[in-house]
Amino acid sequence: MNSHPPILTIDGPSGSGKGTLAKLIAERLGWNLLDSGALYRVVGLIAKRQGVSEHAPAQLAEIARRMPLSFDAEGRALLDGEDVSLEIRSETAGNLASKVAALPEVRRALLDWQRDYVRPPGLVADGRDMGSVVFPDAEIKVFLTASAEERANRRYKQLIEKGLDVNLADLTADIRERDERDRTRKVAPLVAPAAALELDSTSMSIEQVVEQVLERVAETFPDLL
Ligand code: DC
Repeated sequence: MNSHPPILTIDGPSGSGKGTLAKLIAERLGWNLLDSGALYRVVGLIAKRQGVSEHAPAQLAEIARRMPLSFDAEGRALLDGEDVSLEIRSETAGNLASKVAALPEVRRALLDWQRDYVRPPGLVADGRDMGSVVFPDAEIKVFLTASAEERANRRYKQLIEKGLDVNLADLTADIRERDERDRTRKVAPLVAPAAALELDSTSMSIEQVVEQVLERVAETFPDLL
C-alpha cells in the first residue's frame, strides 16, 4: 500500500513542453500541480530586487525559505499578494533561476516547499529533478525532451505572442547555455530518472504527448480514468 497520494513527475529541459503537459494532465486527473521552476524563478526575482548576489548561497537559501509566495487557483504566482507571473517568465528571470538552481543550499531550502504539495487526490510535479531527487517514490515518471532548435522556436512564438521583443538566435544560444548548466551542475543535474517514460516531443503534437502519458496512467492506475 502506498502511504502517499499518487505522484506523477514530469522532468525535462526548458521549452520541451512539460509545463503545458503538466497542466493538461493535472486538469484531466483533477490533481494538484507543482510548477517547481516557478519557485526557482521567484527566488531569482527576489534576489535581483534585493540586490543579493547570485554568488551568495546562504542569503539565497534564506530567501528561498522565507519567501511569501503563494499560487492562486489559476496558477498565478503571488509574491506577498503581488502577481509576478509575467515577470518571472522573462528570459532574464529564467537565466537567473538557472544560476540560483545550481546552488545546493537553495535546492535544499526548496525541498520542503515542494514536498508540501503532495496532497490528495494526487500531484503532477513539473521540473528538472522531480522524479530523480524530490519525489523518488513517484508512481509515474515522465522525461520529456525536444531538440534545442525546436524548443527555441516554441519559446520564440510564445514570447512574440506575449508582445515581448526577442531574437531567435539569442534565444537558441540562451537555451543551449541553460541546458548545459542544468545538465552539468553537481547537484540534481537534469537526467532521465530510472524507469521513466521518455518522450521526444520534437515532432509530436501536445495531444500525442498527452495521449502517451494518459496511457501510462491507465496502466498504472486502472481505476482512475
Ligand atoms: O522550468 P523553468 O524554465 O521554469 O525553470 C527555470 C530554471 O530553474 C531552469 O533553468 C532550471 C531550474 N529548475 C531546476 O533546477 N529544478 C527544477 N525542479 C525546476 C527548475
